Amino acid sequence: MKLEDVKKIAILGAGIMGTGIAEVCARAGYEVTFRDISEELVKRAYERIKKSLNRAVEKGKISKEEAEAALSRIKGTTDLKEAVKDADIVIEAVPEIMDLKKKIFKEIDEICPEHTIFASNTSSLMITELASATKRPDKFIGMHWFNPAPVMKLIEVIPGVLTSEETYNLIVELSKKLGKIPIKAKDGPGFFTTRFLAYYLAEAVRLLEEGVAGVKEIDDMVKLGFNWPMGPFELMDFIGLDTTYHILDYIYNETGNPAYKPPLLLKKLVTAGFIGHPKQKPGSRGGFYEYFKIPRGK
Ligand SMILES: NC(=O)c1ccc[n+]([C@@H]2O[C@H](COP(=O)([O-])OP(=O)(O)OC[C@H]3O[C@@H](n4cnc5c(N)ncnc54)[C@H](O)[C@@H]3O)[C@@H](O)[C@H]2O)c1
Repeated sequence: MKLEDVKKIAILGAGIMGTGIAEVCARAGYEVTFRDISEELVKRAYERIKKSLNRAVEKGKISKEEAEAALSRIKGTTDLKEAVKDADIVIEAVPEIMDLKKKIFKEIDEICPEHTIFASNTSSLMITELASATKRPDKFIGMHWFNPAPVMKLIEVIPGVLTSEETYNLIVELSKKLGKIPIKAKDGPGFFTTRFLAYYLAEAVRLLEEGVAGVKEIDDMVKLGFNWPMGPFELMDFIGLDTTYHILDYIYNETGNPAYKPPLLLKKLVTAGFIGHPKQKPGSRGGFYEYFKIPRGK
């Protein structure tokens, strides 16, 4: 398949990342169908995309007509078959759990046409293992976007052991067409970006546990001292504490490197329902800021 043959993109999972990816693809002119597991989540995702498009109009990034046209190209459904049956590319953005992702890929492998390429937005799970759930490992690749997807420029492209050159080239070309900058990374737990980031996030939680400084103090030190746009706790609230936990757990189990051992405080918060910023995660009690009752703001 050539880039010009790609007409329809299906997105699986319409949470923080899936909605952003759907928006970017529709803005680039693709027909997009996204799938989530309940009508309520589908409706919520659609509203989230609509709001984000309106914000882009307000900021003068796109015209009102472009936003309306992009929205008209997006459909949401709970029906998996409906979402993927005629997709040229499927981008998967469901929770960071190996068994869940493998189950979904196995299922869609039976439904999708032979030419369909499967791209996973996983942050850390090995692409070669995910691909092993399908009969098309040559058409399987990691396409790791960054949050928020409509804003962040990088896409980390990760070929698995059996990914074909053709699949790799197509995803690189697609990423460029979507206005992104693709950079190749080797397959392995966390690839490059997540191995790098997760290390620092886990250390921030450990420093908090040891009482070296508080949540707000650590965030402020990182922003003021290193000029990073967000502190580690703000970032974890934004990424999702559940996603951060799954990533650390996976990298730790695969590598045995204690730097990635999920801190107990993180596990405690996730199991108590503090899975991230309430605006980002439906049903969340909040993130670090809500748990420690710290007002958000500059
Ligand atoms: N949050 C980030 O900053 C970030 C950045 C890059 C990559 N990622 C990766 O993207 C993926 C999704 O993360 P997210 O932050 O969007 O998570 P999220 O929790 O916001 O969204 C996941 C969505 O998938 C849905 N879902 C669950 N099972 C499903 C199924 N069987 N079919 C379809 N949808 C299903 C959930 O209902 C939810 O809406 C993960 O692999 C994560 O590691 C996350």
